Amino acid sequence: MRAELRLGTRLAVERAAVWLMASRGDGVARLVSSPWRADPYPTYARLREGTGVYRSKLRITSVATHALCSKVLRDRTFGVRSTDGAEPPPFAASGLPGEVEVIPSMLEVDAPDHTRLRALARPAFSPAKITGYRAGIEEATARLLERALAKDRFDLMADFAAPLPITVISALLGIPDVDSAAFVRYGRVLGASLDGTKSVRHARALRTANRELRALFTRLIAERTADPGPDVISALATSTGLTALELATTCELLLIAGFETTTNLIGNAVWTFARNPDQWDRLRADPALVGAAVDEVLRYEPPVQMTARIPHRDTEVAGTPVAANSMVIVLLGSAGRDPAAFERPDEFDIGRPKGADHLAFSSGAHYCLGAPLARLEGEIALGALAGALPAITAVAEPKWRKTTVIRGLSELWLSPGTGSRAG
Ligand code: HEM
Repeated sequence: MRAELRLGTRLAVERAAVWLMASRGDGVARLVSSPWRADPYPTYARLREGTGVYRSKLRITSVATHALCSKVLRDRTFGVRSTDGAEPPPFAASGLPGEVEVIPSMLEVDAPDHTRLRALARPAFSPAKITGYRAGIEEATARLLERALAKDRFDLMADFAAPLPITVISALLGIPDVDSAAFVRYGRVLGASLDGTKSVRHARALRTANRELRALFTRLIAERTADPGPDVISALATSTGLTALELATTCELLLIAGFETTTNLIGNAVWTFARNPDQWDRLRADPALVGAAVDEVLRYEPPVQMTARIPHRDTEVAGTPVAANSMVIVLLGSAGRDPAAFERPDEFDIGRPKGADHLAFSSGAHYCLGAPLARLEGEIALGALAGALPAITAVAEPKWRKTTVIRGLSELWLSPGTGSRAG
C-alpha cells in the first residue's frame, strides 16, 4: 500500500510538472499532455522547424525530420540502453511489489543480446511462413466481418480490428482457446505502458497482465517443450540459446507487438478513409491499390508515433550536441509528414508517387520484425472492408486512446448500411 501511495504521489507531481511545461510551449511536453496530444501533427511541424532537433526542458532531445529520424535509427552510435548502468526499467514493468520478474525484450536491448534474440525469432517471419499465414488471416477476416455486418451498428475496434490480429498472432504462437477480451485488456495495458506507468490503477493492471501472461506462457512453454508442434512457441522452446526468462519475454513481446499495433493500423485506416471518401471510392474501384493504401495509412497516421534511442558516447545531431546516455526521441509520426520527404504531406493520397519510405516500422537494427505480417493483415482486412462497405458510415464520433506512443482509436461505431456518409 505504501509503495502504491509513493508511486501515486510521484506520478501526480510528474504529470503536473510536465503539463506546466506544455502550457509554456515545450514541444515534447505537449506530445504527452492534453489537449495537445489529441492532434500531435501541429506540434511535429513546430519540432521540424530549424534543424529538426529540439531540446526539451524535460532533458529529452527530439528529432523530427525524416532525414534525421532515419539517420539516428541507423546510426550505431545510438542504442536502446544506456552504458552508465542507470537503466530504465523494461517498459512493461509496473514498479509495484509482487510483480513477476520482467526483463527487457529484444526491443529494449542492444547487440550482442539483440542480435541473438532477433535471430531466434526471425524464422517465424520468413517469406514462406508469411505466405502460409494468408489462408488463416482470410478465413478469420471473413468470419469476423460477417458477424459485424449482421449487426445494426458495430464497433469496428471491438468487433473487427482488435480480434483479427489476436486470432492471427494466437494461431502463430499456438495459443489455444483464445480469450480475446482478456488479451485486448492486456494489450491496452501493456501498450499504454510504452508511455511509462500512468497511474496506480494502471500499475496494478500492468502487474495483473504481466502475471497472467507469464502464467499462460509458462504453461504453454512447458507443454511445447515436452510435445512440440508446428507453432512458434515450440520452435523457440526447442531452440538453444534462450534462457527460460528470455523465452517467456520473447513470447510476450510477439503477442503484444503483434496485435496492439495491427489493431490500430486497421482502426486508423478506416477512420482516415471515413474522412477521405474520395480515396475510399478509389480503393473500391481499384483493389490493386490496397498495398499502397496500407503504406499511405502508415505514413499518414502511424500506430507507433515515436521511439527512443540513447547515444553510447557524446555525439551531435545536425550540429546539436547530444550527451552520452541522454534520451533522444525519434518522431516517426513526424517523419511521415515531413514536406522535405513527401509532397503535400498532410494530404491522404493512396495513389501518391513512390517517394521516401515511411518510418512507421522504424529502421536500422530494430526494424519491425513483424512488418511483412502486419502488411499482409492490413491488406487483407482493408481489402475485405472495401469489398463489403460501399461507404464508411460513422454513427458516432470516434473515441481516441489517451496514449502518446501508440496512436489509435478505442471505439469507432459504424453502420453496415449504404446510407449517407458521416465523419
Ligand atoms: C502495423 C503494425 C505494426 C507496427 C506499426 C509496428 C511497429 C514497430 C516499430 C516502430 C518497431 C521498432 C521500434 C524501435 O525501433 O524502437 C517494431 C519492432 C518490432 N515489432 Fe512491430 N509493428 C507492427 C506489427 C508487428 C507484428 C504483427 C509483429 C509480430 C507478430 C511485430 C513484432 C515486432 C518485434 C518482435 C519488434 C522488435 C524488433 C527488434 O527489436 O529487433 N510487429 N514494430
